Amino acid sequence: MARVLHISASPRGDRSTSRKLAAEFLAAWRDKHPGDTVTDRDVGHNPPAHVTENWIAAAYSPADTHTPEVAAAIAESDKLVDELFAHDVIVVSVPMYNFGVPSTLKAYIDNVVRINRTFKMDPSQPNPYVPLVHGKKLYVLSSSGGAGYGPGGPLAGYNHETTYLQAIFGFIGVTDSTVVLCENANGAPPAKEESLAAAKVAAREVAAA
Ligand SMILES: Cc1cc2nc3c(=O)[nH]c(=O)nc-3n(C[C@H](O)[C@H](O)[C@H](O)COP(=O)(O)O)c2cc1C
Repeated sequence: MARVLHISASPRGDRSTSRKLAAEFLAAWRDKHPGDTVTDRDVGHNPPAHVTENWIAAAYSPADTHTPEVAAAIAESDKLVDELFAHDVIVVSVPMYNFGVPSTLKAYIDNVVRINRTFKMDPSQPNPYVPLVHGKKLYVLSSSGGAGYGPGGPLAGYNHETTYLQAIFGFIGVTDSTVVLCENANGAPPAKEESLAAAKVAAREVAAA
């Protein structure tokens, strides 16, 4: 039985396309894996705190040297990192914002990509970064108003959203990833509806694979 962590990044609720995609994915996942558990980490509605000076002081010093203020500044990050390690499958549902991820999701990433927790340094190596997260699978479910951000598409060079998520999760060791794009979310009918229907099929297929 696997533990699934769903990180949702839309600030919208029922109107969110990325949340609709995630609901489709998770329904198919539950059908296929009825014993699995799903944890919701809704950063779209409850964003983690941004990195602060005390946060940095905490991340780069031993815990037994932390003042109460420094320890408090890293507590949420500790919780989010522990949560990440406690799950086997990571599902990120995310809107494209200005060709990247919403700042709420970036705040989450800044909290979990942490030295000596999710990566470490080995200065003896040409690439000194050593990932510390192993054995997890990532699904990225993205929605965008426009279209053409996929590999080979006319706007692929502007896609700093799904490519970034694959890169940053890969950096900490989550290298096995699958992306589902729902493009044209702001398109005129019928492109919008057709795109959502096709993306829902794709989400169900990858969940059931
Ligand atoms: C602040 C903001 C920035 C956006 N930037 C882009 C963009 O760069 N490219 C794009 O195709 N759509 C962009 N959109 C449209 C959203 O990606 C699209 O509406 C998406 O479906 C939103 O996801 P949601 O429905 O899950 O909230 C933007 C929307 C907002 C509100």
